[in-house]
Amino acid sequence: MRILVVGSGGREHALCWAIRRSPLCTELLCAPGNAGIAQMATLVPIAAEDVEALTAYAVDNAVDFVVIGPEAPLVLGLADRLAAVGIKAFGPSAAAAALEGSKGFMKDIVAKYGVPTAAYGRFTDADAAKAFIRDKGAPIVVKTDGLAAGKGVVVAMTEAEALEAVDAMMADKVFGAAGDELVIEEFLAGEEASFFALVDGETALPLAAAQDHKRVGDGDTGPNTGGMGAYSPAPVVTPEIERQIMELCVLPTVRGMAAEGKPYKGVLFAGLMIDHGAVKLLEYNVRFGDPECQVLMARLKSDIVDLLLAAAEGKLAGKTVDWHPDPALVVVMAAEGYPGPYQKDTVIEGLDEAGRVEGVTVLHAGTRADAEGRILATGGRVLGVTAIAPTVREARDRAYQAVDRIRWPQGFCRRDIAWRALQK
Ligand code: AMP
Ligand code: GLY
Repeated sequence: MRILVVGSGGREHALCWAIRRSPLCTELLCAPGNAGIAQMATLVPIAAEDVEALTAYAVDNAVDFVVIGPEAPLVLGLADRLAAVGIKAFGPSAAAAALEGSKGFMKDIVAKYGVPTAAYGRFTDADAAKAFIRDKGAPIVVKTDGLAAGKGVVVAMTEAEALEAVDAMMADKVFGAAGDELVIEEFLAGEEASFFALVDGETALPLAAAQDHKRVGDGDTGPNTGGMGAYSPAPVVTPEIERQIMELCVLPTVRGMAAEGKPYKGVLFAGLMIDHGAVKLLEYNVRFGDPECQVLMARLKSDIVDLLLAAAEGKLAGKTVDWHPDPALVVVMAAEGYPGPYQKDTVIEGLDEAGRVEGVTVLHAGTRADAEGRILATGGRVLGVTAIAPTVREARDRAYQAVDRIRWPQGFCRRDIAWRALQK
């Protein structure tokens, strides 16, 4: 099969890495990709959000299967456009991608179908939102309805903070139209984990759990990021917790989406809060996590193309997934300054030496190669140093050994990835 992966981050490099291992893949393309992906796929210079150009490219080049990495093209309807021209794609329709694209839609669906989740209200009027906050009190969580690059959530510890968030989102439009509507919800305490399941419209096949580190600094301090590291499996997700996630969250959602005439196909990424043995759903994402995908692909032994195709074609029933028994861990290297402003086009050296550490694969998240073949950093999150080993501790040691071989003065990473797992 000629397979096109859409996206340019660490998640897409991890997907390409896994797809390359499949005997079903005869040719791999990636739009727009990065310097790491270029070592295993042909790059196609089309932006991930350019739905029309991607569709035209897939038709003109007889692409057999498109694997859509990020949420933006899904919300914009890339899977629908490809279906309309008869090209198979992995990823939900725009209607189903609203599970991530609209937090209000997501909350209404899960409430309607009985999924345990935080109590909430939806607001298009700032005064009504503020009255709700004054009535409920702090702590309380204020979210933009629409996509805000992972930044549209304020966990307010005081009422004043929550009221300020309403003004920033609704009056000052800090997140543009994403803040035209807000979801305000009950604060949930506990330990967070992520769980991934493949869904074909009807059947859900559990994949695995992971945990990431959202804060930029050691000890989970500083501002939120897209994720500074992750590991899988997640010790907090015991078999009983996994049973709750599937029975109480994923399966009712899949049945509900089908009943609503919006069958969900793709990977369902559940963000969960686990407190005293009980699971509550925080959010859904309609794609693999980044950097969680890196550790899932490191552990996956089954043929990824076979699984993704089965999800796209409604044939997941009866499928099973084989995992490496060893845990995997990824340390994200980011450009100094991230998640704030940072320098671009700084030179990274030592990647080959880093990749020679046993069990380590250096996945690229934001890189390009210049005319001399040097690797330059182009994004905030730049590399995902991924390691697999018999224990989390050894995986961590391998990853940091590789990090220490990378010569990139303008880069940094957290030094405590997986501290929670190591404490258990
Ligand atoms: P979301 O994008 O909805 O997952 O929110 C981003 C982050 O905000 C989550 O990963 C949590 O750490 C936090 N968060 C979201 N909703 C809640 C909640 N109801 N209670 C506590 N923390 C929350
Ligand atoms: N790492 C969190 C996410 O991909 O949304």
